[in-house]
Amino acid sequence: MLKDTFGREINYLRLSVTDRCDFRCVYCMAEDMTFLPRAQVLSLEESEQICRAFVELGIKKIRITGGEPLIRNNITHLFNQVGQLQGLEELTLTTNGSKLTELATSLKLAGVKRLNISLDTLDSEQFTELTRFGKLEKVLDGIQAAKRAGFERIKLNAVILKNRNLDQVPALVNFVLSEGLDISFIEEMPLGAVVEHGREEEFCSSAEIRAVINREHPLQESAVKTGGPSRYWQVPGYQSRIGFISPHSENFCASCNRVRVTAEGRLLLCLGNENSVDLKDIIRRNPGDIEILKQAIVNAMANKPEKHHFYEDDAEQIVRFMNTTGG
Ligand code: GTP
Ligand code: 5AD
Ligand code: SF4
Repeated sequence: MLKDTFGREINYLRLSVTDRCDFRCVYCMAEDMTFLPRAQVLSLEESEQICRAFVELGIKKIRITGGEPLIRNNITHLFNQVGQLQGLEELTLTTNGSKLTELATSLKLAGVKRLNISLDTLDSEQFTELTRFGKLEKVLDGIQAAKRAGFERIKLNAVILKNRNLDQVPALVNFVLSEGLDISFIEEMPLGAVVEHGREEEFCSSAEIRAVINREHPLQESAVKTGGPSRYWQVPGYQSRIGFISPHSENFCASCNRVRVTAEGRLLLCLGNENSVDLKDIIRRNPGDIEILKQAIVNAMANKPEKHHFYEDDAEQIVRFMNTTGG
């Protein structure tokens, strides 16, 4: 079992399989992005080897992220491989939904049970403004394809920005209630030095969002835990979970159970910290030697910091964008 120096058990790996994306969400990327040269990105075999090492060390949940994981060629092969690792309890995916119409069934067959789909608005014009390149209809089709494929739970992720999509909160809640989905509302995090909007003016707290929802649907706090950072509420009479991810207003670092591996194979111990271990270098120098990889992972736990410092006045600016970080 992996443990850090603060006694936290690490049982959740978030693995990014690409920094590329077919969208350019305004809070995630700049309009003009330079992506990693392909040779610097982990191959699918290397990614599988990293997952295997983590599972042998006691990781129970792996979430595949990006960028947009489903634009990576042959990605269902990785899901098939990782889905078969003995000891892994949950294989999950976070996607923008643009490729789900084509891929939902293969993902379900590979053993993915839960799925998180990013959707910040149900207004198609606003959707294109927020994602720059995205088409709402395609994502809504993808959600229906995922429902037909029969995933146990489908959760939407919505980053709410005050002057952009706060007005969409009631519509998003009514959508998940009527479609039998879950949703997590996310407070924006200041990753990536250059985005073209003011993060402070746009910031919207979870409490503000709950107040908007409570006007129409009185929320009851729920004891449900999914192993991620969301705290959940429910609307009486409905199955849907209404979650809030509040890195700013309700810091959850004390219960952190996760680490990340970026698309270029850097093991990041915290979203808000640049400290990392180059697993790609270790794999490429020692092909096939999983024990060396495992030892490097165990050693890295000593460097997991206690918490992020995102919103402190003198905080170091994290220049890494969310898409290279793995969400
Ligand atoms: P489940 O609880 O399994 O549904 O997953 P999740 O909410 O952990 O995964 P998801 O990929 O949907 O993440 C939602 C948001 O939570 C993303 O914006 C993540 O970056 C954010 N998040 C996840 N882990 C952390 C963390 O350790 N710190 C911070 N600050 N944000 C996190
Ligand atoms: N702050 C908060 N959430 C973000 N995401 C991307 N960038 C940011 C950010 N700066 C969200 C996406 C997706 C999830 C993986 O991360 O909307 O739902
Ligand atoms: Fe792409 Fe997700 Fe970033 Fe949007 S938030 S640009 S969908 S990686």
